[in-house]
Amino acid sequence: MPRVLVSDFIPGDILDPLARMAEIEMWDQVGRAPRAWLLEHLPGCEGWLSMLSDRIDAELLDVAPGLRVISQMSVGVDNIDVAACREHGVSVGHTPDVLTEATADTAFALLAAAVRRIPEGAEIVKRGEWGPWDPWYFLSGDLHGATIGIVGMGRIGQAIARRARGFDMEIVYTTRSPKEIDDATEVGLERLLEMSDIVVIAVALDDGTQGMIGRDQLSRMKETAFLVNVARGPIVDTDALVFALTEGSIGGAALDVTDPEPLPPDHPLLELPNCLVVPHIGSATLPARREMATLAVANLTAYLRQQPMPAWLPGSAEQPLGDYPAPGPPPLAG
Ligand code: NAP
Ligand code: GLV
Repeated sequence: MPRVLVSDFIPGDILDPLARMAEIEMWDQVGRAPRAWLLEHLPGCEGWLSMLSDRIDAELLDVAPGLRVISQMSVGVDNIDVAACREHGVSVGHTPDVLTEATADTAFALLAAAVRRIPEGAEIVKRGEWGPWDPWYFLSGDLHGATIGIVGMGRIGQAIARRARGFDMEIVYTTRSPKEIDDATEVGLERLLEMSDIVVIAVALDDGTQGMIGRDQLSRMKETAFLVNVARGPIVDTDALVFALTEGSIGGAALDVTDPEPLPPDHPLLELPNCLVVPHIGSATLPARREMATLAVANLTAYLRQQPMPAWLPGSAEQPLGDYPAPGPPPLAG
């Protein structure tokens, strides 16, 4: 049987189809699988079910010349050197679509909480500082009618736009490849930053988007505007964001992802009252995580059966496909 490494716990009922056709070595301890553990256990493996916290580079690929397929339990693949995978003949799968709605919900929860000052309000109540109702106390901007600027109109960007329509927002967006989006206007990044009351980052992280929101971009935003990041931390220049939030050149930020990640407890972002940070929980609903794990397993089982992976990553090695007429039921144990 082929050997497959699984670098975090996957529940038995989800792993079952893979366990019937491969010998599995799983990291099931608290915390991320250490690099030393990966380097020790990858040699001899044909497949790897990886996590976004694994740094997958040529050094790891070199120790496992028999590795043929990596299936990552996330849609973002910026932790993977995809070109090195192609050179090493490794096909890559990931988990698009199944987490889109959960992540867009998180973006909306963050932007609503930040704009309407929900965490601040909750803290005031807990500190016993809730005074009598005051018509001019604790005011914020409106969510409804606000202009939302979505940077990156991919799957998650479009799901955020669907929610924004329900809040009667004006929607502007940037995109790399042209898209037809109802009730939304495509603009350039500079214009988007100048027009928006809420800027939401939903692009993938790659060489072209790393640091795309820096000091110059933040300085174009309105003084009252909020920055929401549900994509990847390094898309935003952290020092520039701390500066903008400290001097009040933007209204606030709400971040599911940061650079570095995790954020150390003494990081300046955590000192700022106008910055809300949550620990990369965009897709962290039980249904979404089960679907992600299921799709990650399906990518691996399909590869091992020489059938097309349901979510193969373009740019990685092409999959050698067998002589299959139609996908059949999974083979039974034995
Ligand atoms: P997607 O459908 O591929 O959308 C990504 C968008 O980014 C696409 O519209 C793409 O443009 C654009 N893009 C990529 N590289 C670019 C570049 N160099 N310049 C300009 N635009 C670029 O992916 P998705 O499913 O919406 O996910 C987006 C990202 O969200 C993921 O890559 C991941 O990092 C992040 N994410 C985070 C969480 C979380 O827990 N916070 C959960 C899920 C995803 P094209 O349309 O032209 O390709
Ligand atoms: C989560 O961040 C993902 O990319 O799936």
